Amino acid sequence: MNNPNQATNYRTHYCGELSAENISNQVSVCGWVKRRREHGEKLAFIDLYDHTGIIQCVVDEKLNLGGEFVLKITGTVSERPEGTVNPNIKTGDVELTECEVEILNKAEPPPIPLDERVEVDENLRLRYRYLDLRKEKIQKNLRVRAKINEAFRSSMSEQGFLELETPLLIVSTPEGARDFVVPSRLHNGNFYALPQSPQIFKQLAMVGGIDRYYQIARCLRDEDLRADRQFEFMQLDVEASFVNQEDIIEIITAATKNALCAVLGDEISEAVEFSEMTYETAMENYGSDKPDTRFEMLLTDITQIFENTQANVFKAECLKAINVLGGVDKISRAQIDDLTDFSKKLGAKGLAWFKVGPKVDAAESLDGPLTKFLSADEMKALVESVSASSGDLILVIADTHQVANRVLGQIRVQLGTELSLTSGNEIQSAEDLNFVWVTDFPLFEGLDETGTPICAHHLFTMPHEDDIDLLVTGGGEGMLKARSLAYDLVLNGWELGSGSIRIHKPDIQERVFAALGLSEEETKKRFGYFLDAYKFGAPPHGGFALGIDRFTALLSGEENIREVIAFPKTQTGQDPMTGAPNRISDIHLKELGVQVPPEEK
Ligand code: AMO
Ligand code: AMP
Repeated sequence: MNNPNQATNYRTHYCGELSAENISNQVSVCGWVKRRREHGEKLAFIDLYDHTGIIQCVVDEKLNLGGEFVLKITGTVSERPEGTVNPNIKTGDVELTECEVEILNKAEPPPIPLDERVEVDENLRLRYRYLDLRKEKIQKNLRVRAKINEAFRSSMSEQGFLELETPLLIVSTPEGARDFVVPSRLHNGNFYALPQSPQIFKQLAMVGGIDRYYQIARCLRDEDLRADRQFEFMQLDVEASFVNQEDIIEIITAATKNALCAVLGDEISEAVEFSEMTYETAMENYGSDKPDTRFEMLLTDITQIFENTQANVFKAECLKAINVLGGVDKISRAQIDDLTDFSKKLGAKGLAWFKVGPKVDAAESLDGPLTKFLSADEMKALVESVSASSGDLILVIADTHQVANRVLGQIRVQLGTELSLTSGNEIQSAEDLNFVWVTDFPLFEGLDETGTPICAHHLFTMPHEDDIDLLVTGGGEGMLKARSLAYDLVLNGWELGSGSIRIHKPDIQERVFAALGLSEEETKKRFGYFLDAYKFGAPPHGGFALGIDRFTALLSGEENIREVIAFPKTQTGQDPMTGAPNRISDIHLKELGVQVPPEEK
C-alpha cells in the first residue's frame, strides 16, 4: 500500500502500525487520547489511538489533556521495559519515548462512553454517531464493507460489466414496498418516486444494448424496519443480455467469491461451497425459502401415518415432524412450553411433542400428552419416519400444508440457535458459511382478499416455459402452481439476494398483467413507456441484486445491519443526530404545492 502519510507533515505512521521493526526510529503519529495515566508531576502515559489501533506514549512534561483531545506526537519508538509489555494490543511490545506533544484540538468530555465494552442506548449512539464511529468494531465493519464493494466492482468489471448510474427521481418502480416520494416544485401536485430498485432502468439498458450492467445502487423502500431492513440500503445490482439462469448464478457466485477472498482470505473462501436447491425442496425440508443449511433437523412429512388416526389434534391436511437429537436432556419442559407459545403466535394451533424413552417398543417408549390418543402402529411409524432413538424429542405440527411447513421451519431455526447448532455469526471456517441458490420459485406467492395473485418476485419475471399455460385472465388457485425463472441466494438462513430471467416478449408480459387483474388501460398508464420499449427489439435478459448491507453484516458477525451502515436510521426510521424526518417551512411547502396537517403540540 502507498503510505497515505507521506504527503503530509502530520504523521509518518498510523498508531497501530508501530512494532519492534521500528525501534529507534523517530516517528510522528496523530490521533485521539484514549487514556492518560499520570505518574507524579513529570511523567505521564498517553494512549493515543486512530482507526488502526493504540500506541502508548511516554511524556515527561506536565500537560493539561482530556480524553479525545486530538494530538500529534513525535517520538522515538522504543522497546517497552520488561514487565510492561501488553500482549492484548498489536503495539504492546513498543512505546513512544522522548515525546513532543502538539495539541491539534481540544475536546469536551464525550457524551457517550467510547469504551467498546459499555452498552449504550441505540438512540444515544445514533445521536452521536460521529463519536460512535470511532469505535474499533464499527471502524472494522465499515472497512469490511468497503472491501466488499471494491471486490464486487473489480469482479464485475473483470466479467465485462459496465458500471452505470440510474436516476433517483423517477416514477414508481414496483418491488412490493411503498414508495418514498418527492414533491415537484416546478410541477405542483406531481411527485417523483424514489427507486425501490433500479429494476426498470436496468432492463431498459438491456433494450439499449448496454449488454452487461452493474451498479452499487441505493434503493429506497418505505417498509417496516427490522434487523435486516433499512429504508435505504445498497445492492450490487446486475443485469445481462443473452443469458440464462445458470449464467447469472455463475456471474454472481464469482463476484461473491471475490468478495469473500477480499474479506476472509483465499484459504477459507476457496473452501466455501455454493449449493443449489429448488424452492419446493427448501419448503418441504426446511419450511423456509431461505433455508439455514448449517444444521440438519429436516422436516419430515408424516401425514400418511395419521391418515386414519383417532387423535383429533392430528386430523389435518398435513403433519410435519422434526427430530431433535438428544432433545430429552437438552430441552426443558419450560422450553417446550415456550416453543408451543411461539408456534401459536406464528399461527399454528399447538405443538405436539414426544420424548423417546429407552424401551425398544415405540408404543411404550414414547412419552407426551398425545400418546394416549395414538395407536401402537402410529407411534412405531412416527419413531421410524424421523429415525428417532432413545433420548430424542419429536416435535409435530398438524395444520394446512403451508402453516405446518412455515411454523415448524421457524421452530427449527429457533432450536438451531437455542441448541447452538451453528457457530452463530462467527466465521471460523468455510463450514460457517452456507450459500444456497434457491431456484424455481413460484410466480405467485398467494392470492389477496380479492383472489388476485401476488407476485413472488416482481411483475417482469419470466414464467417457467412449461407453466405459461397456467396463466389465465381472471386469476384463480390454479395459477399458484406456476413456477418462474426466479432465484434467490441464501446465506446462513438470510436472503442475501434475488433475481430472475425477465420477460422480454410483450405478449407474455401482457399475459402476466392480465393474470394479475391489471386492465390494459391501467398497464398502459403505469408501464406504457416500458412496454413501448419492448416493441423495439428487447433482447432476452436477466439479472440479480445482492443486498450489500446484509452481506457485510454476515461477514462481520453482526446481527443487525445498522452496525455496518455509517449513518443508519433507528428502528422507527429516524435519525436522532440530524433530526430527520422534520417539518419544513410554510414557504417551502407552498412552493411545493403541498399541504400538511398542523404540527401536534
Ligand atoms: P429484492 O427486492 O429481492 O430484489 O432485493 C434484493 C436484495 O436486496 C436486499 N434488501 C434489503 N436490504 C436492506 N434493507 C431492505 N429494506 C432491503 N430490501 C431488500 C436483500 C434482497 O435480497 N430488483 C430486484 C432484483 C432483480 O430482480 O434483479 C430486487 O430488488 O438482500
Ligand atoms: P389440546 O388438545 O389443544 O390441549 O392440545 C394437546 C396437545 O397437542 C398440546 O401439547 C398442544 O400444543 C398440541 N396441539 C394442539 N393442536 C395441535 C396441532 N394442530 N398440531 C400439533 N400439536 C397440537
